[in-house]
Amino acid sequence: MLNTNASFSRKHEILVPGDKSISHRSVLFSSLAQGKSEISGFLEGEDPKNTMKCFSALGVSFVSEGSGKYSVRSPGKQGLKSPLSELDFGNAGTGIRLSAGLLAGLPQMRATLTGDESLRKRPMARIMDPLTAMGAEIESLTGDGRAPLRIHGKQLANYSYKSPIASAQIKSALVLAALSSDISIDYEESELSRDHTENMIRFLGGSINQINPLRFVLTPPYKFEGTSFRVPGDLSSASFYIVLGLCAKGEPTIIKGVGLNPSRVGIITVLQRMGGKIEISNPRSECGEAIGDLVVYPSKLHKIEIEEALIPSIIDEIPILTIAGLYSDDGFSIRHAKELRAKESDRISAMVINLKRIGVSVTEFEDGYEFKEISSIHSGLIDTFMDHRIAMSFSILSKLADIDLKIDDVSWVDTSFPGFFEILKEF
Ligand code: S3P
Repeated sequence: MLNTNASFSRKHEILVPGDKSISHRSVLFSSLAQGKSEISGFLEGEDPKNTMKCFSALGVSFVSEGSGKYSVRSPGKQGLKSPLSELDFGNAGTGIRLSAGLLAGLPQMRATLTGDESLRKRPMARIMDPLTAMGAEIESLTGDGRAPLRIHGKQLANYSYKSPIASAQIKSALVLAALSSDISIDYEESELSRDHTENMIRFLGGSINQINPLRFVLTPPYKFEGTSFRVPGDLSSASFYIVLGLCAKGEPTIIKGVGLNPSRVGIITVLQRMGGKIEISNPRSECGEAIGDLVVYPSKLHKIEIEEALIPSIIDEIPILTIAGLYSDDGFSIRHAKELRAKESDRISAMVINLKRIGVSVTEFEDGYEFKEISSIHSGLIDTFMDHRIAMSFSILSKLADIDLKIDDVSWVDTSFPGFFEILKEF
């Protein structure tokens, strides 16, 4: 394993910005609800801000009251109007996929949804096909199942779907389509994906008939009223500092107010199994989501087998988990993670290319990669492939190894973690 060159002589206590998934959903649900809502802890990153801008173009008013607080006024789902120009979701897969579902179920809606170069490469057939089966009119303007997507809103029909992919974006797109069209949906997935959408429905007073852990039925009527949404800190953002804290020497790192939804805590489970000492203190719950503070102690890590069922709950954390793998006895292996190829970049290819550039001998598979125990790395040029998590993972490695990695474009970090480098400088 690599020897760490980072040693902290004092305890660091940090806060991470609001959860990206819940921030997107706070925009969508406050737009569905007629009247006034409030959002606090909103992630002021480009991804959820783009979703907010898109819903402003549909007639929802979001007034900033500073530091992640917004006052929202919505005409309600029937009052949402067609935008005058294309809706641009930037880099955000969650923004475009969930919004596509919501808009496809509104008969008054005509809209074209697009995004940046990275987003326009990502697969949309996974939502277009089931939405079409529900009666939606949704067309890929490139003709190959990618954005831009042209939507002609429709009254959809009751639907039952067994998803071949464990994806919260697919699940949420279909659920939001059902909410906007006032129809019922019976949804089943192969493994549990994050359940923030279901939590938000329950928080808003809706009832979900949970048939088993992987299947639920949602039945109208849906009457959502404006409310107060509090967004917890993002565990995916915290994971960069969890790995920094575990792989460094010296004093612990404390991360306060982090979302600990059971469908997201895979990163903590895996790092603990690798030998990481991570304690949860002050557990509480807000807006239907579990929250707590994390105390992370420098620890000796070792390789473990990561089973398939855990993959959905660590899907966004695999790049930074790989960095922890460089500091582990016996190396690192990740398999059953083909979904990584459909993220902001092809994260299997992005990680393999960049690891090779710094001297790691890594074997690539269709569904993952692996490397044996590492004893040294060297400086190299890191290509982020327009992906925030690749940029942050190698920035953490640069700190731990005290090597100047040349990262081509760190501006992608602003999509999910504004302030990431300011925090890193404090260590
Ligand atoms: C998200 C779901 C995940 C995750 C993404 C956010 C969400 O995507 O990777 O960053 O907010 O629903 P998939 O559901 O497509 O795996």
